[in-house]
Amino acid sequence: MAKETLRVSKIKNGTVIDHITNGQALHVLKILGVRGRWEGGVVTVAMNVPSRKLGKKDVVKIEGRELDTEEVDKIALLAPHATINIIRDFKVVGKQRVKLPAVVKGIVKCANPTCISNSGEPIQSIFYVESEEPLSLRCHYCGRIMKKEVVLNQLTP
Ligand code: CTP
Ligand code: ZN
Repeated sequence: MAKETLRVSKIKNGTVIDHITNGQALHVLKILGVRGRWEGGVVTVAMNVPSRKLGKKDVVKIEGRELDTEEVDKIALLAPHATINIIRDFKVVGKQRVKLPAVVKGIVKCANPTCISNSGEPIQSIFYVESEEPLSLRCHYCGRIMKKEVVLNQLTP
């Protein structure tokens, strides 16, 4: 990329979350636990970056940190086209597209208080993805539809 158009620096070691759905960068940061007082490495955020694939995208770069599967699964709910790039010594050594499965198990809690999955029994939550964007999930047990805003409140309390 030409110097004139470089928006944010390359990073040396860490993770670049690319192709984030426009508008979700701050939610992704929250999922990663990056808030006002952040003790970790350098974090850079770019929003509304022009993208051929997505029109506009957000990008989050987080130095000195790799993501665990739970974090990746949560990001998939908000940004189903995101790419997770692992950077070591400035090189992309791993690239993984997040994957929103057809059935989401255990990440989200049913919003219906009388749902059997909330009864205190050891029952794992199960949702069917009715729509990826905007996100809509349907509870396997009670049929309750969970829209994006409700899921978001759970993922980023
Ligand atoms: N990147 C970075 N620091 C590095 C290497 C890469 O911040 N040391 C960023 C790039 O700016 C890009 C992402 O990581 O946003 C992925 O890098 P790369 O695979 O080189 O880019 P593309 O080929 O454009 O990725 P894709 O094919 O996934 O769109
Ligand atoms: Zn339910």
